[in-house]
Amino acid sequence: MKPTNPVPLHDVQFQDLPRGISSVRALPDAELAALWDSIVVGDGIKDTLLAQAVLNYTLRPKVTPSVLPMHGVILLVGPPGTGKTSLAKGLASMVAALMKGAKFRLVEVDPHALTSSAMGKTQRAVGELFSQSIAEQAVNGPTIVLLDEVETLAADRTRMSLEANPVDIHRATDAVLVQLDALAASHPQLLFLATSNFPLAIDQAFTSRCDLVIEVPLPGAQAARQILHQCLSSVGEMFPSIARLADSRELDRVAETAAGLDGRTLRKLVVNAMALRKETALDPNKLTLADLEAAARKAQSSRAAAKGEHQ
Ligand SMILES: Nc1ncnc2c1ncn2[C@@H]1O[C@H](COP(=O)(O)OP(=O)(O)O)[C@@H](O)[C@H]1O
Ligand SMILES: [Mg+2]
Repeated sequence: MKPTNPVPLHDVQFQDLPRGISSVRALPDAELAALWDSIVVGDGIKDTLLAQAVLNYTLRPKVTPSVLPMHGVILLVGPPGTGKTSLAKGLASMVAALMKGAKFRLVEVDPHALTSSAMGKTQRAVGELFSQSIAEQAVNGPTIVLLDEVETLAADRTRMSLEANPVDIHRATDAVLVQLDALAASHPQLLFLATSNFPLAIDQAFTSRCDLVIEVPLPGAQAARQILHQCLSSVGEMFPSIARLADSRELDRVAETAAGLDGRTLRKLVVNAMALRKETALDPNKLTLADLEAAARKAQSSRAAAKGEHQ
């Protein structure tokens, strides 16, 4: 893959990233900005996210925490496949683009790399990640840290059975909270963007430290239509008949059927629809809206079945 960073990162050691950090990149970043654009959500969500993130840089460094308690943490919650990770990464780039002049960076944390079965190890690794690795990054300038699937790090201590969840994880949550408070006080240029598919699994003490908790919903019919339109139009660049489907008014009916499916499933719908018949597999131009609708119905029944299993 060719690098898309517009700013050369002379000072970053990509080879020797500390444990728990999976990548560091300069912002803004064209690839991440495209990710932001590709996610279809009600406008309010993107505006709110952007405003809150920008306040972290315009307001937070200038006020005392005792007056306005800001921790520099934004949490995106919602069902899997609704675009949370994409929005968080995209947001980092959008903030950097708005705050011209400063050299922003995005640090991605891989919480799974920190959990260890050995007693006390996870707690220590988490402590080190925040107090050393992240703090070191933050010294270099405005730093945005992605804590993807944060429930792994800040698991709800009240729900934990000590049998199912080792005491170690319990301590790791404590370590995250202690470190968050310390970093919030010492590094106002630091912004954490956290995501979670399981908000109920997150410790309340973590949620209460968030400056904004925003719910990313499943796409409704209108959003589903837009996502399908995006997919069909791109595939349509190679297959002209598919481009015509994208502009058909009857796409509305497919969107009604597909409403409530998550964004990831919606993006897969075009391929799944082609895979329903040998003819469309041999010649994708033969895809019809009826194929798409059949694929949407099938996805809805799998979703209903999966839901039933979880109840
Ligand atoms: N609302 C949406 N609009 C467009 N695409 C979406 C949407 N939600 C998810 N996707 C697509 O689904 C895939 C998974 O998205 P991701 O950001 O990883 O979701 P999450 O973190 O919520 O599980 C991506 O390819 C993304 O483009
Ligand atoms: Mg995700």
